[in-house]
Amino acid sequence: MTTDALTPRSPEETRLTMTQFMQPEHSNSLGNVHGGVILKLCDECGGIIASRHARRPAVTVTVDSVNFIQPVLLGRLLLVHGILTWVGNTSIEVELEVEAEHLLTGERVTTNRAYFVYVALDESRRPVRVPRLLLDSDDARRRFAEGEARQQRRLAAAGRGR
Ligand SMILES: CC(C)(COP(=O)(O)OP(=O)(O)OC[C@H]1O[C@@H](n2cnc3c(N)ncnc32)[C@H](O)[C@@H]1OP(=O)(O)O)[C@@H](O)C(=O)NCCC(=O)NCCS
Repeated sequence: MTTDALTPRSPEETRLTMTQFMQPEHSNSLGNVHGGVILKLCDECGGIIASRHARRPAVTVTVDSVNFIQPVLLGRLLLVHGILTWVGNTSIEVELEVEAEHLLTGERVTTNRAYFVYVALDESRRPVRVPRLLLDSDDARRRFAEGEARQQRRLAAAGRGR
């Protein structure tokens, strides 16, 4: 992986899957995995991807379209897949998909999807320019266009639209 400050990078360079086995300490009062545990793992995975892309610290600025599709049971292996979808000047959007794997059968179900947006920071903790995204496949181009539209909707909703 190249480390030049503003060299464009492909989403494949920073794609990441994080895994964690769901134990009793991850439980909510119903005996399933607590939603906050899942969101924390998503934020960690997305934050690592953003920092890898920018090679700068990155903070979460917004979380968008979080869906809890079905509960995660204790004893499952959680897999959090993240891929960079879109970048602006200083902001970075990451798509997260969560799967729960039954270790004895190998069956995997998709339990969550979400988009997290990060901002890269300089030494003074101010937003700093990030590398452009190398759109080297039809999928990457489609994800980028969809991310751009989501970001415009977010900024409009936050009263920051142009
Ligand atoms: C992130 C932060 C530095 C941005 O500061 P700011 O003064 O809004 O900075 P800017 O106006 O220059 O915006 C920076 C980028 O964030 C984007 N942004 C700001 N608010 C946003 C929102 N609600 N939704 C989506 N993007 C947003 C801007 O569009 C801009 O992107 P661009 O440079 O790609 O065009 C500041 O809001 C902050 O420190 N927030 C707290 C972060 C935090 O503590 N997170 C939790 C722990 S990690």
